[in-house]
Amino acid sequence: MNEDLSGKVALVTGAGRGIGRAIALRLARAGADIGVTFHASKAEAEALVREISDHGARAIMLQADMRNVADVVAAIGRTHATFGRLDILVNNAGILAPGRINKISVETFDEAYAVNVRAPIAAIQAAAARMQAGGRIINIGSIGSDYMPYKGRAAYTMSKGALASLTRGLARELGERGITVNNVQPGRVLTKLLEEASDNQLNDLAAATAIGRLGEPGDVADLVAYLARPQAGYITGANLRVDGGTSA
Ligand SMILES: NC(=O)c1ccc[n+]([C@@H]2O[C@H](COP(=O)([O-])OP(=O)(O)OC[C@H]3O[C@@H](n4cnc5c(N)ncnc54)[C@H](OP(=O)(O)O)[C@@H]3O)[C@@H](O)[C@H]2O)c1
Repeated sequence: MNEDLSGKVALVTGAGRGIGRAIALRLARAGADIGVTFHASKAEAEALVREISDHGARAIMLQADMRNVADVVAAIGRTHATFGRLDILVNNAGILAPGRINKISVETFDEAYAVNVRAPIAAIQAAAARMQAGGRIINIGSIGSDYMPYKGRAAYTMSKGALASLTRGLARELGERGITVNNVQPGRVLTKLLEEASDNQLNDLAAATAIGRLGEPGDVADLVAYLARPQAGYITGANLRVDGGTSA
């Protein structure tokens, strides 16, 4: 598989840790220069930038609170200004925003949508204005939007459903410019997002997959890198699961 992304520039949101970190590293290994956004994970983002340089790619750190549209737009602008182009946008930053729908506060609900939906839209607007034909927009949704969610997760899965729907609509709008838009839907991946799960719950989640294990950040990063390739130009508007064959 030819995955040469040399000469390309990517921006990955929430790249300090977890899935975003694996995606940034994977794209850098394929040769892309990377804009790394972080919010709280400053030390982790610094370490990532060093690791990317060790792979021979360039990277810049951009502090951006996804709740703040101006931060999102500034991160895109700085990446483009630094590297002179922008080819790949990965909307990865996300939050769970737990709470049962009949009790969830307006603030928590708004935060879920600000981070998981509004920030990706702001990033897409700023990025698409700077992308050439061959541009790639990759959202990180969740398989949760396709299932009846756990109690207290409905705001999260609703927001990820919005991202899936946004992906289809946007693919049509940007297709005529040769820009693809896809939504990668991870199953359960071992990151901080799952830190509240007990060992028993993690075992049950692993058992619910066909492969028999939880996902790793690299499993998601591999699919993102595949979609970022120049050869993936006919894959667009797709919601693609990377979940080890999860049944529920
Ligand atoms: N892990 C799973 O099982 C799973 C399953 C399906 C989908 N996903 C999706 O995969 C994506 C990555 O999740 P993960 O598992 O890697 O979780 P994670 O380890 O909790 O990472 C979340 C990322 O989002 C960033 N973030 C959160 N709030 C932010 C804010 N207000 N402003 C800027 N950045 C913010 C964090 O940045 P800082 O640390 O710098 O604050 C961090 O990089 C999310 O969209 C998540 O919904 C994960």
